[in-house]
Formats: sequence, structure tokens, C-alpha cells
Amino acid sequence: MLKLDRLSVEYRVRGGYLSAVKDVSLNIGEGEIFAVVGESGCGKSTIAHSIMRLLPDRNERVLGGIYFEGHDLNALNDRQMTGVRGKKIGMIFQNPLDSLNPVYRSGSQVAEAIFLDKKNRAEVWREVIEFYREMKMPDPAQSVRSFPHELSGGMRQRVMIAMMLARNPKLLIADEPTTALDVTIEAQILEIMSRLRADFNTSILLITHNFGIVAEIADRVAVMYAGEVAEQGSVFEIFQSPSHPYTELLMKALPHQSKREGRLRTIEGSVPRITSAAPGCRFCNRCPAASERCEKHAPPVKHLSSTHSYACHNR
Ligand SMILES: Nc1ncnc2c1ncn2[C@@H]1O[C@H](COP(=O)(O)OP(=O)(O)O)[C@@H](O)[C@H]1O
Ligand SMILES: [Mg+2]
Repeated sequence: MLKLDRLSVEYRVRGGYLSAVKDVSLNIGEGEIFAVVGESGCGKSTIAHSIMRLLPDRNERVLGGIYFEGHDLNALNDRQMTGVRGKKIGMIFQNPLDSLNPVYRSGSQVAEAIFLDKKNRAEVWREVIEFYREMKMPDPAQSVRSFPHELSGGMRQRVMIAMMLARNPKLLIADEPTTALDVTIEAQILEIMSRLRADFNTSILLITHNFGIVAEIADRVAVMYAGEVAEQGSVFEIFQSPSHPYTELLMKALPHQSKREGRLRTIEGSVPRITSAAPGCRFCNRCPAASERCEKHAPPVKHLSSTHSYACHNR
């Protein structure tokens, strides 16, 4: 469904290029939930935005291939890309207020997504109410009429998902969709996503910093560090035998009592900002297993199975 082939993205910043994503390769199959996990600043949103071609423009360099159903998205013109965006690939953001229009009733924004192929107004509204019911919105007939600011964060996120459902995309990109929400709402949103996959065989690229969510719903996972894939594999493989020191640390940092934490604070240091010329392993300054060669040389990718790989000199 989606294939990233050595995707690299660099942002132009004062004094050179910042390498936000480097050589990321991954494959998402039909009906598969693929999680990208890593701390803030690891390049997760940059990946999502480059797939949707929503990067700021002229400020960045994109290298490598982005293939959706076999077609190179970078080769499409803007009009063709508009046909893909929203209809075939949908995206939900961390903050749904960014993508809901404050001056329109929430229901009419969902209706707009349906109107693309249906003309009868009454029928469209019935469908919107049905979508709200499916999203377990309280009092659907009434809440379709509410404006975004009248809804709670969790309800706005559901409106966003209803908009996605209305378009029935083949691939859904969810960029930290539950980070701003409480645990109960988070569980409901995750359940909606599982149902999407079960009912429509939708593929989902789920971006999160929370390994608990990965364990709950993903099939496969890529662990990102400072723009690179540190390790990837099936969820079973990653939890059974985490092989990159960063994966191990992230798992140890998994909050046990309260699942909801803004960020993982238990790992020393922070994700570095890296110029494209920096050699060596990006994790070495925080790595308990680091040696001298880690500073000088990029780590080799090692394969434990056809699906499980990691990049480390010392493991
Ligand atoms: N438009 C931009 N211009 C320059 N640097 C950016 C831009 N957007 C993101 N970055 C930088 O790229 C890196 C990755 O950011 P991002 O993809 O947002 O990470 P994440 O989503 O994992 O938190 C960060 O260092 C961030 O500061
Ligand atoms: Mg982000």
C-alpha cells in the first residue's frame, strides 16, 4: 500500500541543512497498522507531511521514493496530488482544531466530505448523523449542529475521524491522534481505528511516542531516533527481543501507572538536531553501550529476521 524507499528530508536552517529524516525505508501492507514511535523531534511528523506533500515548501529537500499503490507520489503534479490527499490518503492530526474550520458547524464539515459523490442534502445529513453515532458522539442529531469550539478535544478528534470515514481512504495517517486526550477517550479512538481496519481493511500509519499504544493496536513498528530508523520489526519481535539500546530504553520508560504522559522524561538527555554532514551514530551521546567507533562511523543495519532489523555497532 505504502512504501518509503530511503526517504530523507532536510530543512534549510541558518548555516546549512538540518537532517530531519534520513534514509527511512518501510512498507505498509493492506489492512496493516504500522506504528512509528520515538520521542519528540525524531522526525515523525516530517515523514507524515512528506507523504501528504504538506511540507512547508522551498525550505526543504526531499530525497528517496514515496510509493502509494505503486505510484511515486513525488512524481504527481499538484492537481493529481489533491486527488490522492483526503480521498485515498487521509490524515488526522494531534490537534484537530488545526484542521476543523471554526466558522462551520462540525457536521457540515463531515457533510462536505460526503458531498463529493452524493447530491441529496437530506440523505447526506442522515449519513453524517449515522457517522456521529458510529463515533459514539453524544446526541448525534444535536451534535452535528455544534461548532468546533463547542466540542471537547475528544469529540473534535472524533469529528476528524468521521470526516476520514466519510471519504473512506485506503491509508490513514494518524499523527499522535490521542496525545492531547485523556485515557478513556484515547481507548475509544484506538478502538475506532481497529474497527476501521477490521471493517474496511484500511491501512494505518500510526505515529506515537507511547509504546503502550504500539502494544495495544499495531502489527509492526519502526522505532525512530533523530530522523533515522533505529529498529523495526513486528510488534511481537520488538517486544520479545528489543535489540537497539534506544528501543530498550524507550520500553523501560513506558509509563506504568499513568499511561498518559506528555513525553518520556526518564531517558537522559535529548534528541540532537543534526546537520546532514554529521558522521557516526545519532544516539551515541546518550547510549549506555557506546564506544569510540559509534562517534565516527554510522552503524550497520543488522537483520534478525526478514522483518526485524536494527542499526547498532555493539549489539
Ligand atoms: N519547517 C521546519 N524547518 C526547520 N526545521 C524543522 C521544520 N519542521 C521540523 N523541523 C525540525 O525537524 C526535526 C523533526 O521534527 P518533527 O518531524 O516535527 O519531529 P516529531 O514529529 O518526531 O516530533 C526537529 O528537529 C524539528 O525542529
Ligand atoms: Mg510530531
